Amino acid sequence: MKIDFANLQYQHELYKDEIEPAILKVARKCNFIMGEEIDELENALQIFTGAKHAISCSSGTDALLLAMMALDIKSGDEVITTPFTFIATAETIALVGATPVFVDIDEKTYNIDSAKIEAAITPKTKAIIPVSLYGQPCDMDEIMTIAKKHNIKVIIDGAQSFGSTYKCKSDSNLGDISCTSFFPAKPLGCYGDGGAVFVNDDELADKIKSLRVHGQTKRYYHRYIGMGGRLDTIQAAILNVKLKYYKKDLALRQEVASKYTNLLSSKKDILLPSIKENRTSAFAQYSIRVKNRDEMQEKLKNLGVPTAVHYPLPLHLQECFAYLGYKNGDFPISEMIANEIISLPMNPYLSDEEIEYIVKSL
Ligand SMILES: Cc1ncc(COP(=O)(O)O)c(C=O)c1O
Repeated sequence: MKIDFANLQYQHELYKDEIEPAILKVARKCNFIMGEEIDELENALQIFTGAKHAISCSSGTDALLLAMMALDIKSGDEVITTPFTFIATAETIALVGATPVFVDIDEKTYNIDSAKIEAAITPKTKAIIPVSLYGQPCDMDEIMTIAKKHNIKVIIDGAQSFGSTYKCKSDSNLGDISCTSFFPAKPLGCYGDGGAVFVNDDELADKIKSLRVHGQTKRYYHRYIGMGGRLDTIQAAILNVKLKYYKKDLALRQEVASKYTNLLSSKKDILLPSIKENRTSAFAQYSIRVKNRDEMQEKLKNLGVPTAVHYPLPLHLQECFAYLGYKNGDFPISEMIANEIISLPMNPYLSDEEIEYIVKSL
């Protein structure tokens, strides 16, 4: 048997009768930049998430950049985040000139350990970026309480968690600003790069919309130093189709995760994902922990089971962040998980037969 990790091809087959005409419509209209499909998408995203403003943009990375630029985060500021995430989370902090300050993760959820955040706050701290890793929201009540006490902002990196909930509220409608990614392999993906910023504050929303178009307030008049950060109309047209079916796709993902958990729970030596009470995961990944990860990955590959490691090296040990002065041993939980974590194939269309084959191979 040969398993497909994300099975984007199957998904295209499923929705192509609506997606292909939607792409063709934009091609024929030539409304490539900020066409009406963008408004349609932003309205649908607002309804889906409950956030007052949904602002589409060019990627999840640019969503984070726009959020930080909107909050005036700059040189001399510190931003607290997790070292166990995709590089974009901390890269964007450095790109605006600020300093990433890492805090270790919780051993069960792999999300930032909210109990360790306060010790990392200094007078320079401007924001906290909790990352909803693999799709699970962080301890948002605790994080918001700390942020309010110290008068700092919270930007959620929800690149992997679109559609997840915390106390029945969308992860995109928490924090001061919430960001997501529509990268093709994300739970809700487009056909290239894309992302969105969610916010309830009207002034911040206006500023983010302006920053997305080079800081302009009207054509060729620029209030801020901004960026070219718009989502392509073609991507919005694709997302408008996929968003209609997203609740169903998300439920299927969660079903696949439950099937994995049921079949794997009796296996010794395998640690399964742990989703805390009062929250749901979008299951961007189904990641387990094993002691012999690299050997297992090779063997699974030979059996036709593709896997991935999210992530093999925590950010405090990455070459690009050597200037921050962190060293091995600074964040022991992140370092341990990075050596043990392995993501199994995850997509809404995995059949029972495929799941059983993956589990048997494991
Ligand atoms: C946690 C996290 N943050 C940010 C990003 C960046 O998103 P994008 O690839 O759309 O720029 C990703 C994407 O992989 C991610 O997983």
